Parts: sequence; C-alpha cells; structure tokens
Amino acid sequence: MRQIGIFFGTDSGTTRLIAKKIAKAIKARHGEDLVAKPLNVNRASADDLLAFKALILGTPTDGEGVLPGKANDTDEAAWLDEILPLLLEVCEAPVPA
Ligand SMILES: Cc1cc2nc3c(=O)[nH]c(=O)nc-3n(C[C@H](O)[C@H](O)[C@H](O)COP(=O)(O)O)c2cc1C
Repeated sequence: MRQIGIFFGTDSGTTRLIAKKIAKAIKARHGEDLVAKPLNVNRASADDLLAFKALILGTPTDGEGVLPGKANDTDEAAWLDEILPLLLEVCEAPVPA
C-alpha cells in the first residue's frame, strides 16, 4: 500500500495536471512506491482517502468558494458534503494507542 494519496477536484483539468506533476516530483525524489496515482475525488470514497497515512488534496474554486462538483451539480459525493466533514471528524478523533 502506498503511503501518500493525492486527491483532486477539477472542472477544466488544471488541478488534475498539477496533481500529476506533484506525484511525478515525489516519485523522482523518493521512488515509485511512496505515492499513489492521483484520483479525482468524485471517483473516490471517503474510505479511499482514509487508507493513506498522508493526503495531498487539491481543488480550485469558482465564484465565492464553490468547489468542483458543486459548480456542475454533480450527484457524486462532493468535498463539502461528504469528504471534508469525514476527514475533520477523523482528525479530531483521539489517536488510538
Ligand atoms: C466561472 C469561474 C469562476 C471562477 N472563480 C474564481 C474565484 O472566485 N477565485 C479564484 O481564485 N479562481 C476562480 N476561478 C479560476 C479557477 O479556480 C481556475 O481557473 C482553476 O485553475 C480551474 O481549475 P480546474 O481546471 O482544475 O477546474 C474561476 C473560474 C471559472 C471558470
């Protein structure tokens, strides 16, 4: 299992390109096995994110802080509704002994 997950939101593809560049840079410095292939958050479950020790998250915003998915009325799990609240919950939970 790779230790770093990269997840992005995007409407027109720029953030996807940046995510790929970040993954490439990490691989160049630390080898192929540390980082997973960047995944669009609209195709990821919350459990997919929680499987990694470290996350790199990237998203653009439209207008007044509107996140991808919200902007195009997708029915998929969106950053605001599902992913971010769960991550915050996990971050605030006590670390198991
Ligand atoms: C309709 C629209 C509204 C935008 N509003 C903002 C904004 O309020 N603030 C901002 O920093 N960027 C704004 N942007 C710029 C996008 O965040 C930027 O182009 C981003 O790189 C797009 O990323 P993506 O290609 O991954 O979707 C807007 C872009 C569009 C098309």
